[in-house]
Amino acid sequence: MPERDVALRPLRPADLGAAYALWQRSAPFDPVPPPVLAEKLWGDPAGLALAAEVAGALAGIGCGAPWEVPTEPAGRRSQRRGSVRLLAVAPEHRRRGVGSALLRTLADDLGRRGATSLRIGEAAPNYLTPGVDVRYEAAPAFLAAHGLRETGEAVNLGVDLGRDDWDTSDDEQRLAAARVSVRRASETDRPALAALLDAHWPAWQPEADCAMGNRPPTLHLALRGESAIGFAAHSATNAPLGWFGPMGTAPEARGLGVGAVLLKRCLADLKAEGHARATIAWAAALPFYERACGATVARRFRRFERAL
Ligand SMILES: CC(C)(COP(=O)(O)OP(=O)(O)OC[C@H]1O[C@@H](n2cnc3c(N)ncnc32)[C@H](O)[C@@H]1OP(=O)(O)O)[C@@H](O)C(=O)NCCC(=O)NCCS
Repeated sequence: MPERDVALRPLRPADLGAAYALWQRSAPFDPVPPPVLAEKLWGDPAGLALAAEVAGALAGIGCGAPWEVPTEPAGRRSQRRGSVRLLAVAPEHRRRGVGSALLRTLADDLGRRGATSLRIGEAAPNYLTPGVDVRYEAAPAFLAAHGLRETGEAVNLGVDLGRDDWDTSDDEQRLAAARVSVRRASETDRPALAALLDAHWPAWQPEADCAMGNRPPTLHLALRGESAIGFAAHSATNAPLGWFGPMGTAPEARGLGVGAVLLKRCLADLKAEGHARATIAWAAALPFYERACGATVARRFRRFERAL
């Protein structure tokens, strides 16, 4: 039955306590500390965070933001996608149109701001999930009712950081013999990093920027001469959760062991920060991660999309 009394308003930082309480009991497969929830809700100046109230009580929360996705190297062309980052309705308010009111308003807002498609979760750099956790049973029917179609799967991998010391000195000596140097990136490496990303993964520039903004930068680089041939980052988003990624080795430098060294350097950082586990979010190349660091599938997600 439609919820006649649902009222939407902007969700403000002063609502964090209530939003966190609602999130904890409504989205049990996405436990996050309040600072991470705040980062998703308000961490993007172009985002919209909404509260749905019923009789003055918080019944649901949702937020979305546009995402400029480069479709060609060097950002020559891009596509503006809309992403719903978070959406949850308190169990006692479900099946009354609260989720629909939130989703419709977020989709309208994103469409008005030029987004041509809508996805759930996936966005960069500031996202929590690469889709909808398969354990949220109501979500597929709810999203189908709003015209979103399922487009595939995504996974997060987990790494037990206690299983190794992640020492890379021997491998780095081998790389040095092949004239490849490896180091934590610094400000002066930005042009070389940008050239690598422009050439191969322009969509990862925002996440790399976030990692470069950490102190010290949470990004490691492999170079041949002055050219960057590989990179790996961590803590670009969701830093309190121990998130690894993105990473990439230029096609001409693959097979040398560059990726494994860069990955392990990041895992060593995360272990030193006190994390017991690392999350490799939205992961492709599973066999690489399994071999390089014993990663296993930790969570599965369904991906959804519709045109706006
Ligand atoms: C998914 C969720 C947001 C739906 O919120 P809601 O307020 O209950 O959704 P609505 O009442 O607006 O539902 C609209 C339509 O979606 C479909 N739907 C919603 N929940 C459903 C369910 N449990 N089973 C089958 N269909 C469902 C129905 O077609 C429904 O219309 P109807 O009630 O007239 O049949 C809510 O269940 C929730 O918070 N789940 C946990 C978090 C989550 O899954 N988040 C990801 C959301 S993308």
